[in-house]
Amino acid sequence: MDNRNDFEAASASEVLSWAIDTFGESFAIATSFQREGMVIVDLASRISSSVRVFTLDTGRLPDETYQILETVRQRYGINVELVFPERAEVEQLVTIHGPNLFYRSVPGRERCCDVRKVRPLARKLETLKAWAAGLRRDQSDTRSAVPKVERKEGRVKIHPLADWTGAQVEEYIARHKVPVHPLYARGYTSIGCAPCTRAVEPGESERAGRWWWEEDAKKECGIHFAADGQVRRAQAQEDEMHKGFTLWFTGMSGAGKSTISRELELRLRERGAKVEVLDGDVVRTHLSKGLGFSKDDRDENIRRIGFVCDLLSRNGVIAIAAAISPYRAVRDEVRAQIPNFVEVFVECPVDVLAERDVKGLYKRALAGEIPHFTGISDPYEAPLSPEVTVNSSLESPAESVEKIWATLERLGLVSFDRSALTH
Ligand code: ADX
Repeated sequence: MDNRNDFEAASASEVLSWAIDTFGESFAIATSFQREGMVIVDLASRISSSVRVFTLDTGRLPDETYQILETVRQRYGINVELVFPERAEVEQLVTIHGPNLFYRSVPGRERCCDVRKVRPLARKLETLKAWAAGLRRDQSDTRSAVPKVERKEGRVKIHPLADWTGAQVEEYIARHKVPVHPLYARGYTSIGCAPCTRAVEPGESERAGRWWWEEDAKKECGIHFAADGQVRRAQAQEDEMHKGFTLWFTGMSGAGKSTISRELELRLRERGAKVEVLDGDVVRTHLSKGLGFSKDDRDENIRRIGFVCDLLSRNGVIAIAAAISPYRAVRDEVRAQIPNFVEVFVECPVDVLAERDVKGLYKRALAGEIPHFTGISDPYEAPLSPEVTVNSSLESPAESVEKIWATLERLGLVSFDRSALTH
């Protein structure tokens, strides 16, 4: 099967056979044990006894999901692979924002999904050449055009059931006595994490039980029921949040600039602010693509980031820059250009950074393999009077976030944050 049309005419079994033959051990089925996933596992196990199956264990799954996982292990003899989120990311998320941040805001919910699902999936996919998922075209408008086989971000993704109807899935399950997730019997039509999924009422849409409160929040924003004083305070807080400023993180590679800025981004978004993050690693893939690490190139990189931060913050957006920005002169240049410039120095001794070496760069730099490496073979000029200094060798990310938030409050850039005291 060489072209798309061949795949379109192929049955679910044929598509699966092709993937198993072509990719072998580098192919796996991703499933959360909903009906479609179970049909795919059943079909695949008839083709090969050694097909790989994985599931994302977010840490908040309902107990029933573990029950069906056990059933799959026993019935099909498959050692289902569990993919966990990064421990440090979950610890940081729940320490800073509390375990149930998803109920408070859409950005909070998206961040939780990102840490517990999206990033672990990306990590798993790094190890695979091809994978299968259970999307069907008639599930929703957004899914109406899914191909049976597609090339996505450098790997092959297959949707063997793309052209199946819900009734066909049901029929297959009944005919082959495929085990089903216990929560279907309790009125669930779509199953995810326990706190974020509920049963649906008759007549509700299939996905109505997912993040059900988000829809409610749109239908009723709540301010009409608050006392007048509360309304005024809410309004004042919102006005406050619409003041743009630039939060500029500087510090050596691996010091924690990206980590801390992500947490601040979420906290600001939760309060209704518009926020954009310009992260050195990301900016260098487009805005500053092609620039290297000579002094001139780094200065050019910083001027470009500064230019965008200026545009954003003049238009009421909070711009967060996270770049090494090792040279004081160009940092001061962008400071002079941007109103409401807040410099955050993320300090960390170089021996601690070399010890941590998250990206493996310090080892290579110390071996002389990376020229002009900041802190090793290139200078880092610490700020002389930053608005705030945090130290990632002495403080947790949560403590650093608190310290920066307190500075923003002191500068009148965010209003007093009572919720920070309660979670
Ligand atoms: S800056 O000096 O221009 O501000 P920037 O923040 O974009 O640097 O660097 C982004 C990332 O590039 C660093 O976090 C690091 O992972 C990587 N990097 C690659 N080469 C170097 C180098 N010579 N010095 C420092 N970081 C480097």
